Amino acid sequence: MAVITEIKDLKRIYERRVPRMFYDYAESGSWTEQTFRENTSDFDQLRLRQRVAVDMTGRSTASQMIGQDVAMPVALAPVGLTGMQCADGEIKAARAAEEFGVPFTLSTMSICSIEAVAEKTSKPFWFQLYTMKDQDYVRRLIERAKAAKCSALVITLDLQILGQRHKDLKNGLSAPPKLTAKTIANLMTKWTWGLQMLGTKNREFGNIVGHVDGISDASSLGSWTAEQFDPALDWAKIAKIKEMWGGKVILKGILDAEDAKMALKVGADAIIVSNHGGRQLDGAMSSIKMLPSILDAVGDQIEVHLDSGIRSGQDVLKALAMGAKGTYIGRAFVYGLGAMGQKGVTTALEVIHKELDISMALCGKRSVSDLDRSVLLVPEGFGGRWA
Ligand SMILES: Cc1cc2nc3c(=O)[nH]c(=O)nc-3n(C[C@H](O)[C@H](O)[C@H](O)COP(=O)(O)O)c2cc1C
Repeated sequence: MAVITEIKDLKRIYERRVPRMFYDYAESGSWTEQTFRENTSDFDQLRLRQRVAVDMTGRSTASQMIGQDVAMPVALAPVGLTGMQCADGEIKAARAAEEFGVPFTLSTMSICSIEAVAEKTSKPFWFQLYTMKDQDYVRRLIERAKAAKCSALVITLDLQILGQRHKDLKNGLSAPPKLTAKTIANLMTKWTWGLQMLGTKNREFGNIVGHVDGISDASSLGSWTAEQFDPALDWAKIAKIKEMWGGKVILKGILDAEDAKMALKVGADAIIVSNHGGRQLDGAMSSIKMLPSILDAVGDQIEVHLDSGIRSGQDVLKALAMGAKGTYIGRAFVYGLGAMGQKGVTTALEVIHKELDISMALCGKRSVSDLDRSVLLVPEGFGGRWA
């Protein structure tokens, strides 16, 4: 049994176990992948300030995100097709999150439906909404999330149109995979994955199939988004959705101070500074580099969260020290899930928790609420001098 000490260990096992199409789907950014790469490399530019002789007993990573208690401020980000990375993947990830005491966010584009995840979990999870042209479908989705007692609605704003990832087109990404000579050859080497998939009925987009009429191909993410996602989404529509939901709302995909101010205006409870893990606008700045300007604009008036590029507890520490109140991991938990199912997600959370806790201690901090910019050494011009 491999000894897992870092997220990279999980990624190596994940790559071996999961069909190439789904590995590539997760492990890609759009076009040249510049933003995807910089999301992680920009975290490396930040350094930590070592402090000594500070009593480090009684440490805690516990905190709150949108008023909910969390064991550490690290939520699982919404990830489409999670149930293709591992059979019943959304249920397994949600169970790992609830046991660990962190929020789980279910994607609109999940394989297991809202109801299937609610049935197999005991604590409320968050639901991520993609806004569709079909208003009636959006209304029904929101009603389903309410009926499942979801405790927050995460509205994703940076995917009205799908960014291009070359590999997804070349692989013919679909759920379930279409059986071509290439996919069959690859699936033959992924027996455990295949046998587990045969053992579940959750193999299609659970929130879509059976809930919408007249889709030409519901197995293809590309054609579904092109046909259904709402290119006319604007702030007035966001305000309407917020009203329809009536509960806590988090706006995801904010990367600019002007948009953060609009999010504040519509009365969101939190924003997620995010570039969708480098999967949408290639050439956009990394989330961690955009965070300071967004905090300057709205940080004292709205809860600011961050995702994109977090691969360790040290990255979480850097985002929190910079001023974020919460963070999300996407790929880091997907690697764990594909590698070892529910246990792998728990392992990913444990690894990140340990790194966060030890790094906090070595920076002379005992709690998340003590973290501030004094923990960081930020190179001059980190945010960049861009005209
Ligand atoms: C495979 C994959 C699928 C994703 N699907 C969704 C989705 O359905 N909805 C959404 O809002 N974000 C989606 N995202 C973006 C994540 O929520 C999150 O913003 C991103 O993964 C953060 O970057 P990281 O993977 O570097 O942690 C997806 C990301 C990945 C990697």
